[in-house]
Amino acid sequence: MSERPLSRRLLAWYDRHGRKTLPWKRRRDPYRIWVSEIMLQQTQVTTVITYFKRFIARFPDIQSLARADLDEVLHLWTGLGYYARARNLHKAAQRIMKEHGGVFPRAFEAITDLPGIGRSTAGAILALAFNQRHPILDGNVKRVLARYHAIDAPINKRETEAHLWHLADKHTPRARVADYTQAIMDLGATLCTRTKPQCTACPLRTHCQACRLGTPQDFPVRT
Ligand code: ADE
Repeated sequence: MSERPLSRRLLAWYDRHGRKTLPWKRRRDPYRIWVSEIMLQQTQVTTVITYFKRFIARFPDIQSLARADLDEVLHLWTGLGYYARARNLHKAAQRIMKEHGGVFPRAFEAITDLPGIGRSTAGAILALAFNQRHPILDGNVKRVLARYHAIDAPINKRETEAHLWHLADKHTPRARVADYTQAIMDLGATLCTRTKPQCTACPLRTHCQACRLGTPQDFPVRT
């Protein structure tokens, strides 16, 4: 048995079933990956695709976004909601021009210092764009890990969150980090869903503690 049964099984599943044709995946451009990750924070993949293509057609790089009027950025965001995301993208593009010579930074601290990018999004960008080994912990990944380990402590508590970050780090493989990162997000979005988890199709079912208990919907626990 592999030292990392979760990542090994997940990667094998991703090779067979993963979504590899999404528009932000065609090139490993950190700018495109950044924009897509911000859009995907609160919006589903199917909705994001159209908005993403329009946004990139108008603002193909950091420089064009930084130079744009905020009104035009917000206009392209109309319908996506959570407009702070668009304001932060615009502001961050201007900071990247000023502070990083227009080149998207590769250092974790430089990325989390930009407006709108937290620890998980920074990890996702670095993993997806540069194959750098960083854990991620967005809502989907929290649910997958809370079920896999049958964590019965409320996930909105600080200690539980810290424990989940530890587990997320432990499961993140050294090789193929970009694929692993996309795979665990896809599993949470497609099979390990909040209300109707499809455990019979899940590559992790033999090791997932919540699946063994037969009560995956009971996880994650909230106060
Ligand atoms: N949610 C956030 N980022 C995502 C991604 N890259 N793919 C699918 N769902 C996501």
